[in-house]
Amino acid sequence: MKPDLVSRQPTLQESIFSVMTRLALNHNAINLAQGFPDFDVPAELVEMVHRYMREGHNQYAPMPGVAALRRAVADKIFREHGRIYDPETDLTITAGATEALFAAILAAVQTGDEVLVFEPWYDAYIPAIGYAGGTARTITLHPPKFEIDWSEVHKKITPKTRMIILNSPHNPTGRMLTASDLDALTEITADSQILLLSDEVYEHIIFDGRSHLSLAGRPELAERSFVISSFGKTFHATGWKTGYCAAPAEMTLELRKAHQFITYAVNTPVQYMYAGALKNTGWFASLPGFYQQKRDFFRDLMKTSRFRLLPVEGSYFQLADYSDISDDSDMEFCRRLTIETGVAAIPTSAFYMQNPGQRLIRFCFAKKEETLQRAAEKLCRI
Ligand SMILES: Cc1ncc(COP(=O)(O)O)c(C=O)c1O
Repeated sequence: MKPDLVSRQPTLQESIFSVMTRLALNHNAINLAQGFPDFDVPAELVEMVHRYMREGHNQYAPMPGVAALRRAVADKIFREHGRIYDPETDLTITAGATEALFAAILAAVQTGDEVLVFEPWYDAYIPAIGYAGGTARTITLHPPKFEIDWSEVHKKITPKTRMIILNSPHNPTGRMLTASDLDALTEITADSQILLLSDEVYEHIIFDGRSHLSLAGRPELAERSFVISSFGKTFHATGWKTGYCAAPAEMTLELRKAHQFITYAVNTPVQYMYAGALKNTGWFASLPGFYQQKRDFFRDLMKTSRFRLLPVEGSYFQLADYSDISDDSDMEFCRRLTIETGVAAIPTSAFYMQNPGQRLIRFCFAKKEETLQRAAEKLCRI
């Protein structure tokens, strides 16, 4: 008898990023959909990975990560946010931020727990909450500013609330948390059992002189937070899938229990390479300017289009309102944009529990100037 596999997540579908990327490939469209650069990682990083491979760093890394890399991450966080994380007990290197998110949620959320998530969201949070047996409670952020209404957050908190998930700079809106957001978060969580998960993968892709406010920088928040980031975004190397989680020792202990049986350890030569790369503070200093130039270049090219572009404070995403062009749903609009115009984008309804009926799509501008130029020429014609 053929056994039935009863789906644990029957409503879960293929990620919109895979769907749109496939459509882009099938129709030879310019892919401004999925969030990855179309330019290469710095050659010296490739050379360093080769060197560590040649030197024989090719076996399992320690479960929590190569010691030199955890030390380098601790130094970086201290440099930027003034918090001391002990590399032995508080830092774990993971297979990208995705694994860190999944391990943190599995470690902390149990059957019956509620997790507050802001929508639109990055699409990995809800499935992870589902696999952990928790329930996602959503709080909708509204365009054009997508600001958090903290009184609504307050109302949504129940005795079952175990975690709040934050993401700043935010994918897909490009919004960043402000000091007053962190004040409100501190007040709301004080004297509670609520844990925080802070997804900070775009921490260095920030514009117009803004500072990234990490939850690591606020002691009252850091003591209850899993702070997660990704070297994939920071070093243009999304395919190397390396990230980390910083959290107090008791939280890290639980996260590592999940991590050791999800992946056990992350690829060794890349970890050694990042241990060196993280010391290059000039690289971090250059990133805001590098991406701001791309944001401004794309926005400038799009000035003559009929899209209305929303403000972008951080991340490498640009939301665009197409309501002057079409009444189609965002999914249909993106399908036609890919097939008929030759440019792929992401329909933002994919990031909501229920389709809000907005006419907003997301472009990724982490692309070469020639790619942005070719895409904008097509987009300005419609
Ligand atoms: C907000 C956010 N979090 C996490 C991730 C996943 O990061 P990684 O590729 O390191 O797993 C992404 C990737 O697009 C993202 O946009």
